[in-house]
Amino acid sequence: MAGGAMVSSVGPNKSYNGGMTFYVFWAILVASCGGLIFGYDIGISGGVTAMHPFLMKFFPSVYEKEIGIQNTNQYCTFNSETLTLFTSSLYLAALVASFVASTVTRKFGRKISMIFGGLLFLIGAVLNGIAFNVAMLYIGRVFLGVGVGFASQSVPLYLSEMAPCMYRGRLNVLFQLMITIGILIANLVNYGSDKIKAGWGWRLSLALAAVPALIVMLGASFLPDTPNYLIDSNKHKEAKVVLKRIRGTDDIDEEYNDISLASQASKLVNDPWKKILERKYRPHIIMAALLPGLQQLTGINVVMFYAPVLFKTLGFGNEASLASAVITGGVNVAATFVSVALVDRKGRRFLLIEGALQMFIFQVIVGSLIWAKFGTSGVAVVSQPYAMGVVFCICCFVAGFAWSWGPLAWLVPSEICPLEIRSAAQSITVAVNMLFTFIIAQIFPWLLCNAKFGLFYVFAFFTLVMASFVWYYLPETRGVPIEEMWSVWKEHKVWGKYIPDDVMETEKTGKPSEEV
Ligand code: BGC
Repeated sequence: MAGGAMVSSVGPNKSYNGGMTFYVFWAILVASCGGLIFGYDIGISGGVTAMHPFLMKFFPSVYEKEIGIQNTNQYCTFNSETLTLFTSSLYLAALVASFVASTVTRKFGRKISMIFGGLLFLIGAVLNGIAFNVAMLYIGRVFLGVGVGFASQSVPLYLSEMAPCMYRGRLNVLFQLMITIGILIANLVNYGSDKIKAGWGWRLSLALAAVPALIVMLGASFLPDTPNYLIDSNKHKEAKVVLKRIRGTDDIDEEYNDISLASQASKLVNDPWKKILERKYRPHIIMAALLPGLQQLTGINVVMFYAPVLFKTLGFGNEASLASAVITGGVNVAATFVSVALVDRKGRRFLLIEGALQMFIFQVIVGSLIWAKFGTSGVAVVSQPYAMGVVFCICCFVAGFAWSWGPLAWLVPSEICPLEIRSAAQSITVAVNMLFTFIIAQIFPWLLCNAKFGLFYVFAFFTLVMASFVWYYLPETRGVPIEEMWSVWKEHKVWGKYIPDDVMETEKTGKPSEEV
């Protein structure tokens, strides 16, 4: 298609030829398995740190405290820095790795990053499974973390670039769906391996991380790279073949040309990290950083990492705690399907606002129920129906997260940025997500011990901030082709002033603004 015709069709309502094909669905399904490794780890650490043989071997002081749980302040039982460092060290490694992954993803392709992520995760799983001292545990976690950093940097990009724009939302949500499935599988594995009488169940839990790692590694090696990457690295013939195959039509010229123009603009950029600081990328960078940061401030990982610990605090036995974690894990998976169904129909803004308000309500209720029973002393005996009521409210909170901020804090940053800064911006998203995950994981036991039930009110406050933030600042991106996003920003009443008119011209012609 000629450049002139393209100018007239630029805009949020543009759509390309071809639709959903089995091939693109298959490629996206395989790539989204990158979410499995992330999820498996999230789910496994909380359960393992609730297992007595694991605590006795690596964290004896926590074990001794737990044995005396009845007589102590239950808010403070699990307040051990070394134990929380076990959970959170992975996220520091992932944070650092995401910046390296940005260069690898941009220069060598999304596919190589995914394979590499799987490989490192595999090494970490083996080290953790055979660990005989705390040092080995931590080194294993660093490998796992680097693997997670690479996977979460490359997979969302891969999904957004491969998906036909009308289905981009729901296909991208598959990443989150795999995260939730990974968490649930981990919860189930923990539930089963805790029953191993000989006490090596924790080894099984940690070593089984090798399975999702192998799936990602092998699966990704059969995938094509994205047309956007192929065009960007001058593999034009291959790009056309892939584009025809994934769109199921030979009539791909319009999309091909748009990606080529985006690629030409992107090639003018030598240093995306310098580029991203320009004023016109302000809205992108703010969203890329704030969405994942706010996602963590919902307190979701307090439930994901510490559900068994939290349930023990509520007076559940070992088995009941792990079983309840399976319930919250199941709700997490089921509710993510709601997002798959609604994200391209209702749009991103609706889900993000509804989800935030739902989380607000249930955080407040959970905080109040815990306050009513445990007060500030932290000593109480909770009846079973009461504890089940708390579990129910936690499930409603998890559901609200799972169909909104869970998937969308990954989807939106991966679809809003132009090609020249897309990989760098995605690293910012991963890094901020990991940083906040680390901080929450690290300080939660301390916060629970000190802020007590008030902790839940703090998280509730943030969910209100999130709803208002989306209301005022986030434009709707549903159905907009990924290389056409400038128009969305330009039309927004807050962000429009950051987008100069000639950016739109550059978009249309592929030439830097001074040549237009
Ligand atoms: C978040 C994780 C969280 C998970 C829960 C993801 O989107 O990034 O931190 O544990 O959702 O399903």
